Amino acid sequence: MKALQIVDHGQIAIREVEETPPNAGEAKVRMTAAALNRRDYWISAGKYPNIEFNTTMGSDGCGLVEAVGNQDHRHWVGKTVVINPNVNWGDDPKCQGPGYQVLGMPTNGTLAEYITVPVHRLAEKPAHLTDSEAAALPLAGLTAYRAVFNRGELKENQKVLVTGIGGGVSQMSFLFAKAAGATVSVTSGSNDKLNQMKGLGADQIYNYRQEWDRKALANNIRFDLIIDSVGGAQLNKLIKLTNPAGRIVFYGATTGLTPSLDSYRLFWNQITLCGSTMGNDQEFQDMIDFVELHDLHPFVDSVRPFERVMEALDRMREVEQLGKLIVTF
Ligand SMILES: NC(=O)c1ccc[n+]([C@@H]2O[C@H](COP(=O)([O-])OP(=O)(O)OC[C@H]3O[C@@H](n4cnc5c(N)ncnc54)[C@H](OP(=O)(O)O)[C@@H]3O)[C@@H](O)[C@H]2O)c1
Repeated sequence: MKALQIVDHGQIAIREVEETPPNAGEAKVRMTAAALNRRDYWISAGKYPNIEFNTTMGSDGCGLVEAVGNQDHRHWVGKTVVINPNVNWGDDPKCQGPGYQVLGMPTNGTLAEYITVPVHRLAEKPAHLTDSEAAALPLAGLTAYRAVFNRGELKENQKVLVTGIGGGVSQMSFLFAKAAGATVSVTSGSNDKLNQMKGLGADQIYNYRQEWDRKALANNIRFDLIIDSVGGAQLNKLIKLTNPAGRIVFYGATTGLTPSLDSYRLFWNQITLCGSTMGNDQEFQDMIDFVELHDLHPFVDSVRPFERVMEALDRMREVEQLGKLIVTF
């Protein structure tokens, strides 16, 4: 089968590799679609911790179960599934254990014609989604679901800000918060993306390359919940923009560490600043159910054949996309 593998630092290639037959407790899935995450870009550029060469990349995918390792699981055969990207979350639903990994490094991932995974990693594809849309869900959907509902404790009618809407997790956070009845505003560095988001129901739009925080404060706009992955110096702006007793949930730090935290405003205004990463297996199933219940469709930027996956990684490097980059098999 063909698989996208890391072959050396900063070097990736589509290669011919052996298929893995399913052992007891496992399923072999013929991939129909896979999606890229920022993580795949970092791995492709050799800038991810603990890279192991000859590993198949990819954390997100949808496919058809072709075979299972034991008869107890034969009901899965012929089903179209999405794959839970958690590997060994552990026993504590609040926090992943020390053996935790994300599918696609160092375990073989979804950017291949076949993947073999334990059957407990499978979830049935929501019926209203295409295979490409379903492939867009797992990692971004799981991270957003935990950030918005568990760590963010979102309540109906709250005011939410999602930063950097070009990011896959940001878009899922937007969809989840809107579906839960919140008022949702977004930031982006691209006016095109902001205008598209206005059309998709964003309440306020802000270009973070301008004095957006001053504009919001001048209009007395503050938020009950901010979902952020940018970090850096911007965090103090977000603290200013948070309502008393509000929450800021961050799951990334794209612009690096925050030089000096405005701790005075943080404690005086009773603000909760909390980190979040991926989500537990129950949250994964809850996320799939929520998507189905609310008939949500993840944003898809573009779909191309697997053979052109390098083009998709180039597009991610240039931060051009609004929606997930999908490859099909
Ligand atoms: N902890 C976890 O479980 C977890 C899971 C997934 C991702 N992450 C991390 O979260 C971050 C986002 O990942 P992703 O895959 O969702 O998206 P992504 O493809 O990395 O996109 C990030 C977006 O951030 C925005 N951005 C960049 N610089 C910004 C700035 N100075 N101010 C505001 N926004 C800025 C851009 O939005 P515009 O294009 O709109 O300008 C960009 O599209 C990454 O750092 C990733 O490593 C963490």
